[in-house]
Amino acid sequence: MSANPLMISPSILAADFARLGEEVRDVVAAGADWIHVDVMDGHFVPNITIGPDVLRSLRPWTDKVMDVHLMIAPVDPYLEAFAKAGADVITAHVESGPHIHRTLQTIRALGKQVGVTLNPGTPLSTLESVIGMVDLVLVMSVNPGFGGQAFIPEAVERVGAIRRMAGDRPVRIEVDGGVTAANAGLLTAAGADTLVAGSAVFRGGRDAYVGNIAAIRAAAGA
Ligand code: DX5
Ligand code: ZN
Repeated sequence: MSANPLMISPSILAADFARLGEEVRDVVAAGADWIHVDVMDGHFVPNITIGPDVLRSLRPWTDKVMDVHLMIAPVDPYLEAFAKAGADVITAHVESGPHIHRTLQTIRALGKQVGVTLNPGTPLSTLESVIGMVDLVLVMSVNPGFGGQAFIPEAVERVGAIRRMAGDRPVRIEVDGGVTAANAGLLTAAGADTLVAGSAVFRGGRDAYVGNIAAIRAAAGA
């Protein structure tokens, strides 16, 4: 288990993109702790989403932490733009370039919480030399690019291994991809404290958001 309080971070990838501001407002009113923003470039991942201008437009809709997951390569040229647009946590992939250490240093220098992440096929050893410089490790439990994919169960033991690697450090461990009430308890038991969920939060329309978030939170705490 983690000592950090649980955060549920709905991914707006599953929201109605024509009404993103209202969707952020509604999901926060329904109990979201953070807002997870998936940035995709059609190059690092086979899909394209949004950039810093959309983040800037969303910023006035909530005071909650904007948890920005950058699935772009190169990533370094865009860090300042996302920082200025209102990101609170900026998470970069170890696979997005040859200089992850520099990328994480830059996020820190921009005054933001530093996150690092890795794809399901990437060895955990890639984290060993940077885990001491981050606030958060994001464990991908799907291959990034799309919402609504099936959870890859090996993510549970990866969470446990990263929690052990982190030792006494208060690093958050976040999980992203296919997270539902059915696997949330396994993930928190293994040491996760931050759960991203797109489909499992946004399905059923706005009247369902409260129940969807409550179900994940209850399962995570059980
Ligand atoms: C996948 C994204 C995820 C995705 C999660 O590339 O990073 O944040 O939106 O969506 P669900 O919860 O539907 O798997
Ligand atoms: Zn994500």
